[in-house]
Amino acid sequence: MTAATTLDLPRLRALMPVTERFVYMNHAALGPMPRSAAERVAEAAWAVAERGDQRWPERQAAIAAARAATARLLGCDRPSRVAFTENTSIALSLVAEGLEWSEGDNVVSTAVEYPSNVYPWMNLGRRGVELRLAPERDARVPADEIFARVDGRTRVVALSWVQYATGFRCDLARIGAFCRDRDVLFVVDAIQGLGALELDAEAACCDVVAAATQKWLLGPEGVGLLYLGPRAVERLHPVRAGWRSTRHMFDWDRFELDWNDDALAFEAGTLNAFGIIALGASLELLLDAGMPAVEERVLALTARLADGLRAAGLTIYSPWGDGERSGIVSVVHPRRDAEELFTRLGERGIRVAHRAGRLRIAPHVYNSEEEVDRVVAELAAA
Ligand SMILES: Cc1ncc(COP(=O)(O)O)c(C=O)c1O
Repeated sequence: MTAATTLDLPRLRALMPVTERFVYMNHAALGPMPRSAAERVAEAAWAVAERGDQRWPERQAAIAAARAATARLLGCDRPSRVAFTENTSIALSLVAEGLEWSEGDNVVSTAVEYPSNVYPWMNLGRRGVELRLAPERDARVPADEIFARVDGRTRVVALSWVQYATGFRCDLARIGAFCRDRDVLFVVDAIQGLGALELDAEAACCDVVAAATQKWLLGPEGVGLLYLGPRAVERLHPVRAGWRSTRHMFDWDRFELDWNDDALAFEAGTLNAFGIIALGASLELLLDAGMPAVEERVLALTARLADGLRAAGLTIYSPWGDGERSGIVSVVHPRRDAEELFTRLGERGIRVAHRAGRLRIAPHVYNSEEEVDRVVAELAAA
């Protein structure tokens, strides 16, 4: 039995209210929340409206459960390795600002990153840190282009697991092992992979995993996560501090900056409880389905989509080699431009996006084969 056969598609679709309204394939931009996430936020908000602080302990327990689920998603059995942040940009900025730098150090990244993974490193220019950007070739960022830029002064390699415009998935384990051999910190912007693809952060030698939760994780906007492996914990200093930074966070008259464990030291103050509660519900859906099964189905749906579109005369721009695929399919039509196609599909209740002059189609585990075939038919007829 393959992993995918264990998925109960009708049940999954019933958990996703968006399926009643749209053929929704825009998870690389914004993932819809499951019914359970919306309900739990509403419930928590009403509890505050009607009862103030009374249910605070329950909200804290839900946050702890969401943290444990996030750690599990990353193949990690220590919830303390996960901090909740506002978004990816802040998670990456905490890393960039939290390392000790010397003038002449460098960071290696790619020329096709989303700005969240560029500006935190560029912002180190004032401290004399150089940012080196490996180029894209044929919609891929070749690992060799990254390796060629690493030298004795490289402190960090920072790149996206999955590129947002092309869907190219890099070989984390290979690049991570290269970094580990050279004592370089490997920092991964995982937002375009997490929730669609399986990740074992430690096995892939990722020292840092940063993401926000509103895309493939089907979480809310404004909640991000920062996973820190042991090497990152050792090297990073928290640049933000507050009452929740310490192990004795409830002893408010004891002023000792006794940093909390692992990533927890990076949270500083009160967390976005409603957002994290929603994330907890979304993670339950994904972890109940099982990430191997989710990944298998996402890749099966994108394969069906690509086969259908190729047969209809469209070009698949996304790299399609072994291990290079993701949930993102970047497509070029022989006659119509991407914006026109985006509008046309939108008028027919199909939500996708256009990026870099190409149509970007990003289905998730709960999309059906019939929906994929409808998208193919609409584009074939365009
Ligand atoms: C690769 C990548 N990183 C980060 C983000 C979002 O950044 P933030 O969480 O800082 O808003 C996006 C969103 O489009 C993205 O595609």
